[in-house]
Amino acid sequence: MQIALAPMEGLVDEILRDVLTRVGGIDWCVTEFIRVTERLLPASTYRKLAPELFGGARTAAGTPLRVQFLGSDPQCLADNAAFACSLGAPVVDLNFGCPAKTVNKSRGGAVLLKEPELLHAIVREVRRTLPGATPLTAKMRLGFDHKDYALDCARALAEGGAAQIVVHARTKVEGYKAPAHWEWVARVQEVVAVPVLANGEVWTLDDWRRCREISGVDDIMLGRGLVARPDLARQIAAARAGQAVVEMDWAELQPLLADFWRQARRKMSPRYAPGRLKQWLALLTRSYPQAVELFGALRRESDCARIDALLGVTAPLAERQARLASA
Ligand SMILES: Cc1cc2nc3c(=O)[nH]c(=O)nc-3n(C[C@H](O)[C@H](O)[C@H](O)COP(=O)(O)O)c2cc1C
Repeated sequence: MQIALAPMEGLVDEILRDVLTRVGGIDWCVTEFIRVTERLLPASTYRKLAPELFGGARTAAGTPLRVQFLGSDPQCLADNAAFACSLGAPVVDLNFGCPAKTVNKSRGGAVLLKEPELLHAIVREVRRTLPGATPLTAKMRLGFDHKDYALDCARALAEGGAAQIVVHARTKVEGYKAPAHWEWVARVQEVVAVPVLANGEVWTLDDWRRCREISGVDDIMLGRGLVARPDLARQIAAARAGQAVVEMDWAELQPLLADFWRQARRKMSPRYAPGRLKQWLALLTRSYPQAVELFGALRRESDCARIDALLGVTAPLAERQARLASA
């Protein structure tokens, strides 16, 4: 059984991947989508969106990273995938689920689910170009505005050469609204021989149990639920191994939160770092009452030094030195 951390553009970046995979239970994670239009992206794109590639393609905790692409041009996607491979991407994943208007308008993401033949052509070309030992996987929604092509799309992906398919069990128009239609994961698994992972609306251990029962598949990809409850994968891993499930409490979460903030401070501009912290905290409020309080204290704060104080984090050395010098 595999438990994956979902790709989430603008949320699950290198920093959150590092922090979440350290909690345990996650078998692999995925980059935010890398959008391919018409050219070969330079190595600098990967330094930004997939820095783990330059350190063995794993997070610090040792969790393998897959590189996800989004686009519609088979040859261009194939060339970029091959380049990512040469940089060390161990697995390439293709996104057929992004609901963003700008992306769909330029014929990328979920809009491609209207064209199973194109899905097939893309996967076949990328598979043909990648080194044989590099697995190619795909992530799909159930359709754009209806589910009539869901099974055709899944077949197209598998026949094109996808070795594994993640099914986000909603259409594009269903967005992120509950419910996720886990029964459709079962239908997809019935028509393809490759393993299918269920994805969508798993927030708790009980959700996972119900999802497994309804979808009939063992493998799962966790998105917002894992960001909101950082030990969700660890809980699931313990439950499936028949071990006692010990929930992570707020105190255990504190060093992770502080480390997330330290890394955000170091790697991002002071303009964006507070927003990232608030984004994670907003999701944590679903699981921890204490996060509601902290979020309340932070929500209007944009000054990094004051956030340091609220989190009990020491400001970076260079900043302390600059403050001393100007005092
Ligand atoms: C903020 C955000 C960004 C996302 N970005 C991506 C992405 O880059 N690639 C992708 O395949 N899916 C992306 N997704 C979809 C998630 O991977 C996942 O399929 C979806 O959130 C459903 O799972 P969940 O209900 O467990 O969150 C994104 C979702 C969210 C909420």
